[in-house]
Amino acid sequence: MQDVESIVERALAEFDRSGDAAQLENAKARFLGKSGELTALLKALGALAPAERRSAGALINAAKERIEAALAARRAALAGAGLEARLAEEALDVTLPGRQRGRGSIHPLIRSWQRVEAIFRSIGFDVADGPEIETDWYNFTALNNPENHPARSMQDTFYVDGRDEKDLPLLLRTHTSPMQVRYARMHSPPLKVIVPGRCYRVDSDATHSPMFHQVEGLWIDEHISFADLKGVYTDFLRRFFESDDLAVRFRPSFFPFTEPSAEIDVAFQNGPLEGKWLEISGAGQVHPDVVRNFGLDAERYIGFAFGSGIERLTMLRYGINDLRLFFDGDLRFLKQFA
Ligand code: DAH
Repeated sequence: MQDVESIVERALAEFDRSGDAAQLENAKARFLGKSGELTALLKALGALAPAERRSAGALINAAKERIEAALAARRAALAGAGLEARLAEEALDVTLPGRQRGRGSIHPLIRSWQRVEAIFRSIGFDVADGPEIETDWYNFTALNNPENHPARSMQDTFYVDGRDEKDLPLLLRTHTSPMQVRYARMHSPPLKVIVPGRCYRVDSDATHSPMFHQVEGLWIDEHISFADLKGVYTDFLRRFFESDDLAVRFRPSFFPFTEPSAEIDVAFQNGPLEGKWLEISGAGQVHPDVVRNFGLDAERYIGFAFGSGIERLTMLRYGINDLRLFFDGDLRFLKQFA
């Protein structure tokens, strides 16, 4: 029976070609199914003479066994391959380094803040903290800014709804200077303190942000002079920038709460900003009116104050040219300081 042999060959070839279980079961149906080719031959046996029927039957049964054996083998092979594939796909390389949780890092401004604290602590300054919502009196009046004085408009202020217990307007502090008065009223001289913190003004461009950081400094005793301010601040700058190679200049200026007043400028002797004077801080000898608002005798107590921009210090230290980078939260920027 030529037919039987060819059916076996085709069945075996089709099983081999079947790439997955579904294809294999379809192939099986074509040969062994109810209307499969081999089944058709079996059904045809009935029409044969008894002698022929026996030999043909034996032949067909042998063929069926071969096909079934091939089918079982192919099923096993496909199942094995599937398992291999799954194992390969789900393989776990236990020698790989673990995935770590992102660690985060300290923001460059906070790094500067911490450096400033460490430097001033090392020369005996206390570090204090104060409210960001301030009263008009502490922010302006106590610092010798009379009401309606034009100096107030130097600082464009965010006012807050509500008033304090003395019915004074509330505002977001425009500088850290009000803490001079708060601190002085809570401590007795000598007063030697810095106050780093957030400040707010209606201002926004590449060099101004509505929220920014300052550090206030105050040293009051019986004989603290402008020379002490020069010594302390120059030493601070050298340590902050880790360079003795910088020049410091005290340029006459005006602030209502200091007399005389100065702007402190720094110039680096090398690097991209070489030779350029850069303003870094306001400063001065504390005005006697302010000393009186401290609750102290202005004939006896004297000293200096300064207020420096932490953004400015940080931009100069790292060569950052746009203040907004500090507040965008862009990890590509922040990771450089990690
Ligand atoms: N508070 C001033 C400002 O924000 C800066 C300042 C100037 C602070 C002179 C001081 C000072 O303590 O003495 O513009």
